This record gives sequence, structure tokens and C-alpha cells, in this order.
Amino acid sequence: MDIDIVSVFPEYFDVLQLSLLGKAQDNGLVHVAAHNLRDWTHDVHHSVDDTPVGGGAGMVMKPEVWGECLDGLLGLRGDDSDDNQNSEAGDAIESADTVESAAKHDGTVLIFPNPSAPLFTQRDATELSHADRLIFGCGRYEGYDARIPEHYRAQGVNVREYSIGDYVLNGGEVAVSVMLEAITRLLPGFMGNPESIVEESYTGGNALLEHRQYTKPALWRSLEVPDILLSGDHGKVNRFRRDEALQRTNAIRPDLIEALDCKQLDKPDRKT
Ligand code: ADE
Repeated sequence: MDIDIVSVFPEYFDVLQLSLLGKAQDNGLVHVAAHNLRDWTHDVHHSVDDTPVGGGAGMVMKPEVWGECLDGLLGLRGDDSDDNQNSEAGDAIESADTVESAAKHDGTVLIFPNPSAPLFTQRDATELSHADRLIFGCGRYEGYDARIPEHYRAQGVNVREYSIGDYVLNGGEVAVSVMLEAITRLLPGFMGNPESIVEESYTGGNALLEHRQYTKPALWRSLEVPDILLSGDHGKVNRFRRDEALQRTNAIRPDLIEALDCKQLDKPDRKT
């Protein structure tokens, strides 16, 4: 999977070299390139934002800079002569003529984190893990000009906007890191033990919070591991964990219980 990230703080993504994602890059499973949006500017100040039309606080990211950057990454010819001067970064990216149709390639998804967008879920992570290429555009300040995603949708690009939660961050960088980790760990070959993904919370059609986990010792500071987990009876252990998952989900996330498809529940889960 090829991943491009555009940000005014590309250094933010140096951490992606660490841990399992770093290993996946070393193994060639994913290729991550972080780009500096300011490389597509032409003014001495390398400005990427301007005041909001209609008034209001803060600054909004300018469409022209994003347009040049994303045209370059997507291999599209810009349709606006007044904002399409050549930039160093633009020159470095493949010629638009050779990859004119690349943006319409089904395997590419352009993603903008946005606190006012639909919530990013495990279902989205699963779907996006099948993409060939992801391009993330990190907004800053009061966000980005709304015409940017609108324009690329009209060009036939698969554009998504996602919030990672009901709170406001200073920019999209952290949100991109969160989405990226949720997506890439689902790639075949990414995890040492693929089974650990199957049993996790939010996985599958009937998402439940996961049961609690314990390790040795069986007694720690007068707190015991539940006896049944030490019994060696796998049937009982599975039933215990399943009951706990249902009870915890009901207590903490009743919305997930409501969304369950009762027909898919195990027989012992159903009320008789
Ligand atoms: N940018 C700022 N806050 C955000 C959030 N909660 N989700 C996605 N992008 C954001």
C-alpha cells in the first residue's frame, strides 16, 4: 500500500518509522511519504492560509496550494490556469500527461481529517485497508477551503472526510496517525499474530467491546485472576469471555448492543 501524507508539519510523521509500521515499511508492505504542503507555494512567506470569507476567527487553508499539491500527487492536470504555476515539488512528481487517469483509479482514496465529518470507525478502517493508495491531507487552523474535497470528488476521485472523535484537535496530523494505524494493522502480513485482530473489539459485523485480559501471576496484590480462566476448559473460558464482552458492552456502549444483528448472535447469547 502506498501512503502519501500532506502536512505543514511533515516531521510529525517521523514516528511512523517506529514499531510495527516501521517494520512494515522496511519489509516493503507499505510505503509512506510525508510531504510539506509549503513546497507547493510560490510566495516568499510560503503561505498556505488566508482569512475566512464571510468573517470569523482564525485562518482557512487556501485551495490553490492544495490544488497544485493534490493535482501533482494524483497525476491530474490542474484546470485553473491562474493557480497552476510550476513549483519545485510539482516538478518532482510524475508528469501529469503520463498518469492522467490515475486519479480515477479505484484503488486510490483521498482522505481529509475533519472534526465536522462522519466518525471514522473500524468498518472504515477495514474498507480502506483494501485500497492500493491512500493520500491524507492534514488541515490546520480553522480547516481547509470546502471546495478542495468538492473539486476532487467532481474529478472522480474517491474522497473521504472523517472525524476521529467528538473533540477538536489543533490539526489533522494526530487524526491521520490514528487512522493510519487502524488501517495498516489490518494489512495481511502486518501483525505478527493475525488472530489477535480477529478477536478484537469492534471487529466483524457484531461488534462488542472485548473481554478483559489477565496474565500471570494468578494472584497479585490480593487480586485474583478469575478461576475459570485457570480451569483449562476452553468451552467454559470462551463462554465466560463472551458473557463478559456482552455485559461490558451493555454497560459501557449500549449503542453497540442496539446495533447487534440478533440473528447472528450465538444461540446462548439469545434471550429465550
Ligand atoms: N481535526 C481537528 N480535530 C479533529 C478530529 N476530531 N477528527 C479529525 N480531524 C480533526
